[in-house]
Amino acid sequence: MFHIITSATIGIEPVPITVETDVTMGLRSFSVVGLPDASVKEARDRIRAAMRNTGFRFPRGRVTVNLAPADVRKQGPVYDLPIALSILLAMGVIPRPSIESSVFIGELALDGSIRPVRGSLTTALMTHRTGRKTLFVPEQNVAEASALRGLTVYGVDSIRTVVDHLLGVELIKPASTIKQKDVSSHPYDFSDVKGQEGAKRGLEIAAAGAHNILLKGPPGAGKTLLARSLPSILPDLSYEESLEVTSIASIAGISLPDIGLIQARPFRTPHHSASAVALVGGGAWPKPGEVSLAHRGVLFLDELPEFSRYALEHLRQPLEDGHVTVSRAAGSVQFPARFLLAAAMNPCPCGHFSNPNRHCTCRLDQVIKYQKRISGPLLDRFDIVIEVPAVKHEKLLSEDLPECSEIIRRRVNNARMVQRKRMGERASTNNEISTRQLDELCKLSPDGKSLLEQALRTNKLSARGYTRVRKVARTIADLEGKPDIEVEHLAEALQYRGQDAIEL
Ligand SMILES: Nc1ncnc2c1ncn2[C@@H]1O[C@H](COP(=O)(O)OP(=O)(O)OP(=O)(O)O)[C@@H](O)[C@H]1O
Ligand SMILES: [Mg+2]
Ligand SMILES: [Zn+2]
Repeated sequence: MFHIITSATIGIEPVPITVETDVTMGLRSFSVVGLPDASVKEARDRIRAAMRNTGFRFPRGRVTVNLAPADVRKQGPVYDLPIALSILLAMGVIPRPSIESSVFIGELALDGSIRPVRGSLTTALMTHRTGRKTLFVPEQNVAEASALRGLTVYGVDSIRTVVDHLLGVELIKPASTIKQKDVSSHPYDFSDVKGQEGAKRGLEIAAAGAHNILLKGPPGAGKTLLARSLPSILPDLSYEESLEVTSIASIAGISLPDIGLIQARPFRTPHHSASAVALVGGGAWPKPGEVSLAHRGVLFLDELPEFSRYALEHLRQPLEDGHVTVSRAAGSVQFPARFLLAAAMNPCPCGHFSNPNRHCTCRLDQVIKYQKRISGPLLDRFDIVIEVPAVKHEKLLSEDLPECSEIIRRRVNNARMVQRKRMGERASTNNEISTRQLDELCKLSPDGKSLLEQALRTNKLSARGYTRVRKVARTIADLEGKPDIEVEHLAEALQYRGQDAIEL
């Protein structure tokens, strides 16, 4: 039997799906088999109407459409177009050779026009990986689908244009694959932030090695401003990373840039009322959460203690593993979630605890309660904790222009290049170095070793802290272009572990 190829996704992984139609004599019926969910079954009415309204006869007798493999759940309206084509193929309306190496997705409207769908980029990836060359997607999804190089992508607006093309009556022009670079401009720049050299240094290290960072300080110190400037110093995305980031956005149904491919690292800023599902993903149709939308970029949680502790605890697993597992009735799916966690908070409800110039009006038990809203294990995952003091008046009034983001970004890019060269395929940032690789990639000198021993002995460092300090020190050395981790790199990294201050 002849079939049409389309695709489904498991998590963000695309798999090819074949659509076959069998028409036999008998009572009129139209059924779809092969684990389709309700949304696919609904397609039957749309397909019948769309075909009739464009002048195609719907077959008499029993029409059975099979979606294979049957153990992959099919959801959403993307199968409308492939099912309709499969029926036309079974009826001999379209010739078989015309569809052999092509893949089709699209939702049909009752009048036969084609509506945009989610996941065109993942379908393009599947098309490419399975050695196929041609992809038909809804007109509105062309930019996204042609973000992948090397495919012929046709944007189609109605079932009639597809059939005419396949019959050679009227050919569709393939989408152009020539892309301009997305020149993204950032609304915030480090040169807008006066003073706060310590916090800027911390953010530079965080960006260079993808280390998690927490900014603590009184109201108005510029924490939010600093964190919002972070995207302006993040390193460039590689082409492969762009494809990953765009695939996730495409599955989540997030609008994509005109050129199709996302070229800037994500910067996600969920509100503190966000639920656990919103943060890590889930739902009946599992959708990626903020941690996955922040993949290869930054998840910024402003006013950290205002988030529900329950929701925050869910961040621990993705922070450790680099992915989230969302379980549902029909098994579980995995979404990538390798992000830099940045957060900001006041040290107490009034905000002035530890501010030498203002009086804190909170009782000590209120301060403790406030800080306890963030669990020790989550706090332990911040490699860099920076106390951001109120900005000094003379700094604020000074007309000296602070260093601009572009210069910092160049240093960050260089440090990333050094990391990639050292680690090759194993990892792309120092933060991803596994415990097993630590001795090889973050070697300590005897002096460095004794410095960390001392910190461990005096309880200034936890076991997790020990490995994290070494990775941060590696990044500091990389920013300096030093091949070995020196004592001063370790000393600086140690200074960023904020545990002591937290434990009051
Ligand atoms: N270092 C700075 N240089 C220039 N402007 C600053 C600086 N710090 C603060 N400001 C100004 O103050 C405003 C408030 O800063 P911001 O919102 O970042 O403070 P915050 O530390 O996040 O405070 P809160 O704890 O209340 O959230 C900024 O929008 C900016 O206009
Ligand atoms: Mg703020
Ligand atoms: Zn206070």
